[in-house]
Amino acid sequence: MTTFPDLNPPPRLLMGPGPVGVDPRVLRAMSMPMLGQFDPAFTAYMNETMEMLRLIYRTKNQWSFLIDGTARAGVETMLVSMIAPGDKVLVPIFGRFGHLLTEIASRCGAEVVSIEREWGTVFTPDEIEDAIRKHSPRIVAVVHGDTSTTMAQPLAEIGALCRSRDILLYSDATATLGGMAIETDAWQVDAMSSGLQKCLSGPPGSSPITFNDRVAAVVTGRKHLEAGIKPPGFVDGNGPRIASNYFDLAMLMDYWGPSRLNHHTEATSMLYAARESVRIALEEGDARFARHVRASEALCAGLQAMGLALFGDQAHKMPNVTGVTIPKGVDADGVRTMMLEDFGIEIGTSFGPLHGKIWRIGTMGYVCRKENVLICLAALDACLRRFGYKAPPGAGVDATLAAYDRG
Ligand SMILES: Cc1ncc(COP(=O)(O)O)c(C=O)c1O
Repeated sequence: MTTFPDLNPPPRLLMGPGPVGVDPRVLRAMSMPMLGQFDPAFTAYMNETMEMLRLIYRTKNQWSFLIDGTARAGVETMLVSMIAPGDKVLVPIFGRFGHLLTEIASRCGAEVVSIEREWGTVFTPDEIEDAIRKHSPRIVAVVHGDTSTTMAQPLAEIGALCRSRDILLYSDATATLGGMAIETDAWQVDAMSSGLQKCLSGPPGSSPITFNDRVAAVVTGRKHLEAGIKPPGFVDGNGPRIASNYFDLAMLMDYWGPSRLNHHTEATSMLYAARESVRIALEEGDARFARHVRASEALCAGLQAMGLALFGDQAHKMPNVTGVTIPKGVDADGVRTMMLEDFGIEIGTSFGPLHGKIWRIGTMGYVCRKENVLICLAALDACLRRFGYKAPPGAGVDATLAAYDRG
C-alpha cells in the first residue's frame, strides 16, 4: 500500500502581498469542535460575527456576514447579485484587481465601461465624475487597495458622487480591511467585500462582506428561492434571477437573517477563523492601523537607505504592502528564490506591466512586526549582494531601526 508522509510545511516568514502568517489564536479557534449549522450555539457565533463585522467595517449595515470562499467569492457574490444583465457598470482600473472586477462584471452580463490609470497612481474625484457624467452607470465598482500596485484609492469623494446620483458603489477591500480604517458608512459605500488572508491574518477561505439597504432592496427584488426550500405562499421577486446559486445574496440573507432558511452548509472552521481574526483586530483597535503605518515607514526608510527606489505615488501607498523597484541587472527571480530557500522568507513578485520591475513586500496583520521588517531587510541586503547589487553595508537595517526609534 502506498503511504504518504505527514504534512510538514517548512517554516516560512510570509512577507508577500498575502497570504500571510496566521495568528496562532486563529489556528487554535479553527481546531474547535464542529457544531451543527442550526445549533443555537453556532447561530449565536454567526450573529456575533455579524456584529463584529459591522464594527470592523464601521457600518450600521444589518447585512454584514461571511461568504464561504476566498476573497473573490465575496467579489463575485456582490457583483452577480447587484448586477442584472444589461446594467451599465463603471470600473475605474488602476491595477490587476480592477481588471478582475471588469471581467466578473462582464460575466454577469453587465455593459461594462472602464477607465484606466497608469499602475502606481489612483484616480482623482474629477476623473471619476467625468466618467460618471459621460456614461451614467447604474453601478460603480472600484478596488479600494489594489495589492498589485500597492495603491489605495480614496473612496469618500467617490461615495458622495455616487450617492448624489443614486448610483450604487461597490468596493473591494480585500487588501485593506484590518490594515487601514474602513469607513463604509461615512464614505457612503453601498457594498464592500474582503478576505481573511491579508491584514486580518486568517487563512484564505472566508470573505467578509457588508451591504446596505439600497443594495438589499435590489437583491430581494431578484429573490427566487430553490423549489425544495420554498415556504408555502412565497412569491418570487420580479427581477431577473441571480445567475449563481452559491453566491445568491438573496438566499444568503435568508440563511444569515432571522428566517435561517437553509442554503449551503456553513464552513464551520472558517467561521471560527473569521470570528477570531476580526475579534483580534477589534481588540487592537486603531493601534493596529498605526502599527501598519509605522512598519511601512520603517521598511521604506530601510529600502531607500539601501539605494532602492520605492514604486508608485507614495501619497497613496497602502501601509501594508510596499513596492520596491528591482535594481537594473539583478536577477529578480533569483533573489526571491534565495530569500525563500536560504532565509525562509517569501516576498512577492508582480503582475502585468510591473512583472520583473518591482517586488512587493507585505507587512500585514500578525506578520507586521519590527523584528520581521528587520529580518526581511537584512536578508534582502544579503541576497542582493549575492546577485551583484551592493548596498552600503548595514545601511538598510540602521535606517529601519532609526525610523522605529523615531516612533
Ligand atoms: C485586491 C484584491 N482583490 C481580490 C483578490 C482575490 O482574492 P482571492 O485570491 O482570495 O480570491 C485579491 C488577492 O490577492 C486582492 O488582492
